[in-house]
Amino acid sequence: MPESTKEASDAIRLIMDERAFGDAGKKVIVEERLQGREVSVLAITDGRSILVLPPCQDHKRLLDDDRGPNTGGMGAFCPSDAIDETTMARIEREVLVPTVDALKRDGIDYRGVLYAGLMLTHAGPKVLEFNVRFGDPECQALMVRLRSDAIELMLAACTRTLDKVDVEWDPRPSVCIVLASDGYPAKPRKGTPIHGIEDAEAMEDVTVFHAGTARNADGDIVTAGGRVLNVVALGDTLPAARERAYEAVRRIRFEGMQVRSDIAGQTVATPNRA
Ligand code: GLY
Repeated sequence: MPESTKEASDAIRLIMDERAFGDAGKKVIVEERLQGREVSVLAITDGRSILVLPPCQDHKRLLDDDRGPNTGGMGAFCPSDAIDETTMARIEREVLVPTVDALKRDGIDYRGVLYAGLMLTHAGPKVLEFNVRFGDPECQALMVRLRSDAIELMLAACTRTLDKVDVEWDPRPSVCIVLASDGYPAKPRKGTPIHGIEDAEAMEDVTVFHAGTARNADGDIVTAGGRVLNVVALGDTLPAARERAYEAVRRIRFEGMQVRSDIAGQTVATPNRA
């Protein structure tokens, strides 16, 4: 998003004249710039009922303080502290219910996850994007809090029985920190050995999800993509979850590992970078 008129016209020139994105640059849509905090509100629908999941927040930029290139997400936490129950009710009423109704009206029998990416502005929540899938890394932060069986939820969405399901959540907040490989997002380096995953997993209330890993010919776990591991921790409070997640991150190392140190709050002591 441009910070000045010059940045805006430079970007338009790059897209429309120099065709940085090919023919996609034939048409440009200029939208209102929204200010506020971003939240991800995910819901499961069976096409009739909607089960709204606790709100999450992710951190899309590669570097601390929201600098650097955009990524798929370098970390997330759940629940987001930016959103209260009144706003959640408003999002359900003004965003999710009309979306499911519109799908129905258009003859689309949609059953699955709805992901609304929202900006909380002074004028209320505004939709930035919709996805028909879980978010990554929001999903990891959500799943460690889900005490009910995720498969039963999915099945209920398929069989239109979501209104009969009781969902139980762990009341404790969760924090997910992404460990990315050297060169991510432009050119992630693959094949780098990873150490310390078991040490991290040995910690109570810590889960390490594999995203971009593989085993090499010697059976060692190595990097195999951009976002390599997700280290997720639960804690009695958000700062406690965060502290625990970073403690687990400090146990893992691989060459060129990229990790933000300000997920879910202020910058913390820089985790190990091998
Ligand atoms: N974390 C953003 C996404 O999954 O689209």
